[in-house]
Amino acid sequence: MLAIDLTGKVIVVTGGGTGLGRSMTETFVRCGAQVAICGRRSHVVEEAARALGPAVRAYTCDVRSWESVEAFLGKVVEDFGQLDAVVNNAAGNFLAASETLSPKGFRAVVDIVLIGTFHVSRWAGAYWIANKRSGHILNIVTTYTDTGCAFVLPSAAAKAGVQALTLSLAYEWAPYGIRANAIAPGPFPTEGAWSRLMPGRNFEEEYKKRLPTRRYGEHAELGALAAFLLSDLAPYITGAVIPIDGAERLQGAMFNYLAQISDRETLKQAFEALRQATRSASE
Ligand code: HXC
Ligand code: NAP
Repeated sequence: MLAIDLTGKVIVVTGGGTGLGRSMTETFVRCGAQVAICGRRSHVVEEAARALGPAVRAYTCDVRSWESVEAFLGKVVEDFGQLDAVVNNAAGNFLAASETLSPKGFRAVVDIVLIGTFHVSRWAGAYWIANKRSGHILNIVTTYTDTGCAFVLPSAAAKAGVQALTLSLAYEWAPYGIRANAIAPGPFPTEGAWSRLMPGRNFEEEYKKRLPTRRYGEHAELGALAAFLLSDLAPYITGAVIPIDGAERLQGAMFNYLAQISDRETLKQAFEALRQATRSASE
């Protein structure tokens, strides 16, 4: 049996006290890793570390601040004696019409998502290069990094930047044995995302009906992908941006709207009628 083994690895998860960060941390621990989680709210990360067990340690860090990141990652290396991977998961996002967005609001998201990811990646990369160690940067982006997205302008711009950072570092640091990858999740229910991005219960149900799989992602599915990428099973995967979205990102393709019609028999009859009509027209 092939299993994902993270034994002996020390992994940093930013924003690891809540949502997907917390779920990935739980999976990493189940695979044998030790995990350092951080967030701005100390009580949140401390409660998560208590719940997840002795392999998890909590740190208070604001990724927007270089000094805070330096102190956090320096302490992680001091506490664990090593660092093998960083997961840039911390993020901010909200729905807003772009013409009403204040410059401070735009910066609030870009500072967490893009600048924070740079701070953590920069510190970890320099540490691995100076210590001649291999390492892995795993960035959590979104499926709208190539398309942009209405009403989440700062997030779309920042996550596109994180994707470019991922691809740039994958190439630049490959000779040092440092990998850089990104996971692009589709919709996964979390308190942080749902409270800011789901305008209501009805919307949640309607949205689900439009998903090709008719369901949201499950946290364990994302955890398994992240653990696989961080493991020694994936040494040749670098510079990859991997969607995990049940094909949701493809709904814009021209005829994909037809797949929204749940009665496939009616659809097939319509296709057949078209075929007959074109056949008789060409006779
Ligand atoms: C318009 C808003 C706003 C909103 C804040 N601002 N929320 N503008 N609509 N809903 C503006 C404020 O008015 C202010 O500008 C500026 O942003 C800073 O606000 P603060 O509250 O002081 O910011 P801060 O405390 O730094 O909080 C950052 C935050 C907050 C991003 C605004 O939401 C946060 O802490 N989020 C962290 C968790 C999170 O967002 N999780 C969701 C990730 S989900 P002015 O000019 O008025 O002073 C995700 C999923 C994507 O990314 C894909 C889903 C499918
Ligand atoms: P979440 O629970 O709100 O997670 C965000 C985390 O980031 C929180 O723990 C928050 O903790 C931390 N954080 C925010 N600002 C920070 C800062 N300046 N410094 C350090 N930590 C900070 O949301 P989530 O849904 O799990 O999202 C996790 C990741 O998945 C994000 O990158 C998000 O963009 C991505 N994603 C989510 C979905 C989805 O459907 N849920 C879809 C696509 C992508 P504090 O507030 O305590 O700092």
